[in-house]
Amino acid sequence: MEKIVILDFGSQYTQLIARRVRELNVYCEIHPHNKAPQIDENVKGIILSGSPFSVRDENSPKPDLSAYRGKLPLLGVCYGAQYLAQSNGGEVLPSKIREYGRANLTFVDQNHCLMKGVSNNSQVWMSHGDTIKTLPTNTKIFASTHDVEVAGYEFLNEETYAIQFHPEVYHSTEGTRLLKNFIVGVCKCSQDWTPNSFVESTVEELKNKIGNDKVVLGLSGGVDSTVAAVLLHKAIGKNLYCIFVDNGLLRKNEFEGVLDQYKHLGLNVKGVDAKNKFYSALAGISDPETKRKAIGKTFIDVFDEEAHLIEDVSWLAQGTIYPDVIESISATGGPSATIKSHHNVGGLPDYMKLKIVEPLRLLFKDEVRRVGRTLGLNDSLLGRHPFPGPGLAIRILGDITPEKVQILQEVDHIFIEGLKKANLYDSVWQAGAILLPVQSVGVMGDERTYEKAVALRAVESTDGMTADWCHLPYEFLAKTSNEIINRVKGVNRVVYDISSKPPATIEWE
Ligand code: XMP
Repeated sequence: MEKIVILDFGSQYTQLIARRVRELNVYCEIHPHNKAPQIDENVKGIILSGSPFSVRDENSPKPDLSAYRGKLPLLGVCYGAQYLAQSNGGEVLPSKIREYGRANLTFVDQNHCLMKGVSNNSQVWMSHGDTIKTLPTNTKIFASTHDVEVAGYEFLNEETYAIQFHPEVYHSTEGTRLLKNFIVGVCKCSQDWTPNSFVESTVEELKNKIGNDKVVLGLSGGVDSTVAAVLLHKAIGKNLYCIFVDNGLLRKNEFEGVLDQYKHLGLNVKGVDAKNKFYSALAGISDPETKRKAIGKTFIDVFDEEAHLIEDVSWLAQGTIYPDVIESISATGGPSATIKSHHNVGGLPDYMKLKIVEPLRLLFKDEVRRVGRTLGLNDSLLGRHPFPGPGLAIRILGDITPEKVQILQEVDHIFIEGLKKANLYDSVWQAGAILLPVQSVGVMGDERTYEKAVALRAVESTDGMTADWCHLPYEFLAKTSNEIINRVKGVNRVVYDISSKPPATIEWE
């Protein structure tokens, strides 16, 4: 399979480069600069990322690029551009004017291959404190900005290019065009990496890898594990055994609803009612981390017990996706000891002795959705809000009891169904309710009440790393609050959480 290799120097934008390349329907991989992969005929080009380091730092990354230079097209971005200059006899110095934010390109060579279709004065995004003062010999500038003469340059007689700005960020308005010029124009990639081609090649690979073995997979009801299951099912059919555990911490009617959806997909799913095991393990625990650990351990016990009931199972499938894989690899220290296990499985013990298969480990979340669509999954399944593995337990502050779970399920149900009815669900990234460990005085009819307070939380986000609270219409909030207090016994007050992440987090625990 054709690919672009991105050598990562630790920039916060490296993943964005990968996404932009993939949006061009070209497959790419991110590798730490010090663990570069073997180059074979599938690698069509190399991109050097930006970095938090300055090339002038003593311990900054200084990889040997001789395996690529002049042999493959190469594009250096920001740090990558400065490193190419410095390591070839140029000079990089601290900028007099530090350039962060917007700048505008002026062409030095209007017909340059990377500038095709890019407008003169095009807005680009800069983020650097150093500048290239002297270029190596045998190079030529093709673009500048007002403050930075060397905004883009090339090495003559080879396909090595360098740009000081970040074409991958949204604010570089024609950055994708420039990347396309490199990837399609220079590297000659054929842009045939589509969800369809991914499904075809992955199903083939899974067939070859797994053969007639049996595979067990823990379903969570979420997008990743569901798409992983459907892909595997396409490859190995009835040899895929799915387990869906009811931990008693799911949303109202979720266990039955999701099981039903899975059955319609033809999956072989065993629903396991382990509610009481989880409630016992959680009894009396209020500390958030202790709760998470108790839930993780109980999950492993239940899953292990169920997996052992499947005779001769030899593989464990996980819905790990690419950001999980990348996050576990540091750009400077090389790969960490183990790849993070899927958060909903919580890390399975070695004694299970299962081989791991992760069909989605190359995909970003939005690509998982596109693959899911190709596989025929419906939008209501693919568009589900994220829901944490520990479920409602981390939305009940204080200790967990089945009664509290039931109250929160009712509140959450009114809120989520209300969002759907008001056509707000799809514009919200994640929503839910939190049961607070406080009681307050209210009045209902002529009676004084002293009951629980709940908080509603709805956030906008793209990846859960940062988030802002949603400005839901007041009318909607008023209606929802009324409905909750009137219908859910034990609740007499509703508040709306208006904290962003950071400094708050999405979940309260
Ligand atoms: P925070 O609260 O850290 O949440 O802002 C970010 C995103 O991660 C989800 N989350 C979890 N998901 N297991 C999960 O599977 C967990 O332990 C967990 N904790 C938080 C959270 O719902 C949000 O989408």
